[in-house]
Amino acid sequence: MMISRGLYGSLWILSCFGLFLSEDLQISAPTNGAVGGSVVFVPVNPPSTSIITVQWSFGSTLILTAVSDSTTIVTAYRDRASFDRNTFALELWNLILGDSGIYRLTVLTSVGDSLTGETSLVFDNITNVRVTGPEESLIEGESSANFSSEGTGIITSVQWMKDNRPLSPSNSIIFSSDHRSVSISPVQRSDSGEYQCTYRNPASSQTAKPVRLIINYGPEDVSVKGKDVVDLGVRVSLSCSANSEPAASFSWKFNETDTNVTTNTFTINKTDFTHSGDYICTASNNVTKRNASHKHALLVKERGGGGGGGGGGLSSGAIAGIVIGVLVAVAGICGLTVYLTKTKKIPKLNQQQKGQASEAAQRKQETKARGDGAIPGKMSEHIYENDKHENEYENDMYENVKLDYSRRPRAPTPPQVSNPPPVRR
Ligand SMILES: *[C@@H]1O[C@H](CO)[C@@H](O)[C@H](O)[C@H]1NC(C)=O
Ligand SMILES: *[C@@H]1O[C@H](CO)[C@@H](O)[C@H](O)[C@H]1NC(C)=O
Ligand SMILES: *[C@@H]1O[C@H](CO)[C@@H](O)[C@H](O)[C@H]1NC(C)=O
Ligand SMILES: *[C@@H]1O[C@H](CO)[C@@H](O)[C@H](O)[C@H]1NC(C)=O
Ligand SMILES: *[C@@H]1O[C@H](CO)[C@@H](O)[C@H](O)[C@H]1NC(C)=O
Ligand SMILES: *[C@@H]1O[C@H](CO)[C@@H](O)[C@H](O)[C@H]1NC(C)=O
Ligand SMILES: *[C@@H]1O[C@H](CO)[C@@H](O)[C@H](O)[C@H]1NC(C)=O
Repeated sequence: MMISRGLYGSLWILSCFGLFLSEDLQISAPTNGAVGGSVVFVPVNPPSTSIITVQWSFGSTLILTAVSDSTTIVTAYRDRASFDRNTFALELWNLILGDSGIYRLTVLTSVGDSLTGETSLVFDNITNVRVTGPEESLIEGESSANFSSEGTGIITSVQWMKDNRPLSPSNSIIFSSDHRSVSISPVQRSDSGEYQCTYRNPASSQTAKPVRLIINYGPEDVSVKGKDVVDLGVRVSLSCSANSEPAASFSWKFNETDTNVTTNTFTINKTDFTHSGDYICTASNNVTKRNASHKHALLVKERGGGGGGGGGGLSSGAIAGIVIGVLVAVAGICGLTVYLTKTKKIPKLNQQQKGQASEAAQRKQETKARGDGAIPGKMSEHIYENDKHENEYENDMYENVKLDYSRRPRAPTPPQVSNPPPVRR
């Protein structure tokens, strides 16, 4: 085939330069055909001398042979080819795509010349192939997407591609019988991508400009990243994310109250206790019209570090201890006053205390101010009894007070409870 083509090519070139047979045949220029149509090949310069045989062939296949008084058409062409003995023209009809190729005419003259000429039949190239896709927004699980295609020329096959890979039919991907359109229903996010379509015939092919399909979905998998427990006075950022097409927009609520924060990050520049609570991030998709939320609980606690004694920050336990101490002292003093007033023991007490009395009184003032319970043991017991319905924690405090005084009943001891009492954790 290659060899014969090459040969004919050479002959053609030679004939152009008049170096070969001057009477070589020329046939009307390459002809475009259409499937089902017809075509006529006519020699432009039929030989004038008398002819012995005429042959038309297609590639290496003989179509017909004509001799002086008869024409023989091979079986395969018998009902779709004809020969004009005057012009040597070959007519073919009911064209099929397989008819495209090279047609050759060979004439043997009575003077012994062998003349040849050839022409080719091509089919019209495919042109203007276009794909039309959905115009509206598509929502996963709800929408369907229809693609249609068109183009001119003889089309023998249509192939659809998604992201440069052949698109195959499935439960949700259905091709029309001529494959010129395809319907995807319902669409899934995996259907997002570039769709294109190629029209082919044996002579040519053309691929349409790709159409991009975007499937909208979500938001889903909303999550908030950030700390759960933070110190007082620090900067905190909570960051919200969601799986969504198009990207979600965000809004934040704090304890069910709208904040004006509409970014994906919620920032507290300096935490205080009012920042403890629930932060709810809502992700919204303005195409799917769906939203989804995630709640993040934040606790602001006092700056950590156990030894509350020395510098600065007291633990909440220490504060509670001091408050209770003050309450005990106040109650104690009230109780003492009542007791002394009722029993008129003031002078006796004074006697007992002797020289220390004034000092004790002074101390009482002091300790009262400092929230100390510098109270005689009995008093403290009395108070304890009155208050023993109080909670466990406080009872423990009272117990400490009582013990102190039972150990050292006499002296109005230096304040014991003014220091933070042993703190329960
Ligand atoms: C897609 O085509 C199918 C059948 O051809 C039709 O039922 C459906 O309504 C079409 N959908 C759209 C969005 O055009
Ligand atoms: C048809 O397309 C082929 C390639 O596909 C090209 O070589 C040829 O020139 C085209 N013919 C016409 C008539 O456009
Ligand atoms: C949010 O902004 C509106 C107006 O811009 C304002 O009236 C409202 O108080 C703000 N809410 C909060 C929690 O800052
Ligand atoms: C937090 O600090 C930044 C600058 O660091 C400032 O732009 C922003 O307004 C502050 N936010 C609040 C709520 O104070
Ligand atoms: C927010 O809610 C939490 C838990 O319900 C609550 O402890 C906190 O006091 C609330 N904070 C504000 C500022 O409302
Ligand atoms: C959705 O929001 C984006 C910006 O976040 C905007 O550009 C787009 O037009 C909105 N679409 C609709 C349908 O509202
Ligand atoms: C979320 O969706 C519900 C119901 O569709 C709507 O009532 C609500 O306003 C939406 N929330 C936001 C923040 O868009």
